[in-house]
Amino acid sequence: MIVPIKQIITKAQKGKYAVGAFNTSNLEISMAIIRAAVKQGAPVIIQTSESAIKYSSLPTIFDIMTNIANTIGKSVPIAIHLDHGHDYKIVKSCIDIGYSSVHMDASEKDYATNVRLSKKTVEVAHKKRIWVQAELGSILGKEGMVKLATGEINMKDMMTDPYQAADFVKKTGIDTLAISVGTIHGHFKGIERVDHPRLKKIRSLVSLPLVLHGGSGLSTGTFKKAIKNGVSVINIDTNLRLAFRKALLDSMKKKSDIIDPRKILAPSTDAMQREVEKMIRIFGSSNKA
Ligand code: G3H
Ligand code: 13P
Ligand code: ZN
Repeated sequence: MIVPIKQIITKAQKGKYAVGAFNTSNLEISMAIIRAAVKQGAPVIIQTSESAIKYSSLPTIFDIMTNIANTIGKSVPIAIHLDHGHDYKIVKSCIDIGYSSVHMDASEKDYATNVRLSKKTVEVAHKKRIWVQAELGSILGKEGMVKLATGEINMKDMMTDPYQAADFVKKTGIDTLAISVGTIHGHFKGIERVDHPRLKKIRSLVSLPLVLHGGSGLSTGTFKKAIKNGVSVINIDTNLRLAFRKALLDSMKKKSDIIDPRKILAPSTDAMQREVEKMIRIFGSSNKA
């Protein structure tokens, strides 16, 4: 059942577990996430990136998420969130259509602009009791990895400065903070890094819920330590994409003559559901609905 994100995250922070925030862009991924939450009796955040919104249009993906949440997912709390909104116009459209939370990601801009855009979003969103996530420091992806490899940038400079985080939270009035503490978007072999002392320092200086992006590929131990050190929300996308692809390739190899898209996609939906369930168990949010 759709509920305000505040209800889900506040309870997680008090209970010292993390809620999974899983990316969707279509019907199958949305079903997998919500079925997993129901099976685990867990609260869950279902989120779309800007490109997921562009893929099917905002009203379509919003209705898919809302409908599944209020039908299949009626026994568990579910909140809809915009992930990495770089374009204020898209952020505003998500506020208007009924998302429970939006990520105003101006982390690539200079500090003053990041503060200004985050604050402006808070002013608009809070009138509708919608939560705002903002980001300080940069959580890299594929392109960032290339720059790291060539030495164009270095990881330390990309990470969240704890003292600046305290100032940022005070100046903007945001509700959750996306932090850069060493994780990267995507799967990169050999990279399994969370700067725990930095995370702990941020935790000691700001009291709002912290969001760990780039969760895919981290080990159970790393997740558990990050939660112990103060993370309340963990974003996962790539793990689901990999599960989808592997199951699709396997099933097409076994039954290459099937033409019904529902039958072709069912093993992938099941595989993504299993992956979400696994993450929920690791995050400690099973039976916390
Ligand atoms: O953090 C980014 C998410 O994994 C979304 O990626 O823009 O390909 O939908 P996307
Ligand atoms: P991963 O794809 O590494 O899981 O990151 C997801 C994410 O941070 C979405 O914002
Ligand atoms: Zn992210």
